[in-house]
Amino acid sequence: MKSRTQVAIVGAGPAGLTLALLLHQAGIESIVLESRSRSYVENRVRAGVLEHGTVELLCSMGAGERLRREGLKHGGIALRFDGKDHRIDFEDLTSGKSVTVYGQQEVVKDLITALSSAGVPIAFEAPAIALGDLDGEHVTVRYRDAGGAEHTIEAGYIAGCDGFHGICRDAIPPGALTVYEHGYPFGWLGILAQSPPVSEELIYTNHERGFALVSMRSPTITRLYLQCPAGEELAAWPDDRFWTELRLRLDSDCGGPDVVTGPILQKGITPMRGFVAEPMRHGRLFLAGDAAHIVPPTGAKGMNLAIADVRVLARAFEAHYFKNDSSGLDSYSDTCLRRVWNTQRFSSWMTRMLHRFDGHAPFERRVQLAELRYVASSRPASQTLAENYVGLPFA
Ligand code: APR
Ligand code: PHB
Repeated sequence: MKSRTQVAIVGAGPAGLTLALLLHQAGIESIVLESRSRSYVENRVRAGVLEHGTVELLCSMGAGERLRREGLKHGGIALRFDGKDHRIDFEDLTSGKSVTVYGQQEVVKDLITALSSAGVPIAFEAPAIALGDLDGEHVTVRYRDAGGAEHTIEAGYIAGCDGFHGICRDAIPPGALTVYEHGYPFGWLGILAQSPPVSEELIYTNHERGFALVSMRSPTITRLYLQCPAGEELAAWPDDRFWTELRLRLDSDCGGPDVVTGPILQKGITPMRGFVAEPMRHGRLFLAGDAAHIVPPTGAKGMNLAIADVRVLARAFEAHYFKNDSSGLDSYSDTCLRRVWNTQRFSSWMTRMLHRFDGHAPFERRVQLAELRYVASSRPASQTLAENYVGLPFA
């Protein structure tokens, strides 16, 4: 069976869902295809820090009511090194801006609720399997429905919001895409635990034994990460080992409350890499979010960057469909890549500053500590961290 739409959106992560809602509000039709089930995407545990501008955007779209109520507003973070905490006060350093801790899956739930009540179609358990005619008048997306039947959507454009492992980026002829990649020799072992957070604010710890991050989802749920070697198996980290290592890295002599353990609800390993595919457009296919780029999670930018892309894309479609002005579509890739590369810069800087590098000579370790001391003690240096962390203004 064939159906038609203005924009076929592949992927119901933060990028695809935000785009669908922005397009709906602009009066542009779309269909969202998602290979997983609704409950899978609504429960997938990922990062959870929203930039100031991401919160404003979600609220302005009418998808921020629960976010305003349940999200935890944070006016700063701590950098823990040299045996103590050094607070970076975002509100003071950025004229009142903050970030909000709110799980990515909660953003996904809110967007799906808003789209469902607006009647925007989302097909779950419906993987896109092939894209066709990317340079033609009408592109096509072939997909398989939950019952196994195949269908084709004919669309004006395709938005490839299908994450790093999706099919959209691979639909671009290899010669048309340049890939830039950087791997790190470590990953993050992350847990979600039913225990009160160690601190009210996030703590980014640089310790001799490796990086540790204290985050949270609510007053009773904590989110914790430990640097681990690249390629580490989860089986190497029974719960006891996690808690013991966390305590060592957080170094309770630093002051503040000690770690309270609790049942671990989820455990996973995130590889650390930087990745950018350029350009983010090929013919009538536009890539957005993780389909086009990955940043290491140290700057908490992945979801924010995905949402920043589709904000640009939605405006470009609006100008195209209602003002007959395609300049926004033509400049989409360049506009997004400016933010993408700045975010790569920030995330790579935070990653290099905070992790333990096994290959580091004592000289490099001392330079790393000097950098942390400088960032913590100089107002312009703290401000650099703060303005990037809360999010630079949108393009
Ligand atoms: N057909 C349909 N859907 C697909 C396909 C396919 N062939 N392949 C993948 N998908 C879906 C995935 O199941 C996922 O739900 O695309 C969605 C992509 O969502 P995300 O991976 O969340 O990517 P994005 O929306 O770009 O958001 C980026 O997510 O990965 C995190 O840390 C990252 O926070 C960042 C954010
Ligand atoms: C999280 O809470 O999951 C989180 C917080 C900060 C980061 C990355 C992840 O830098």
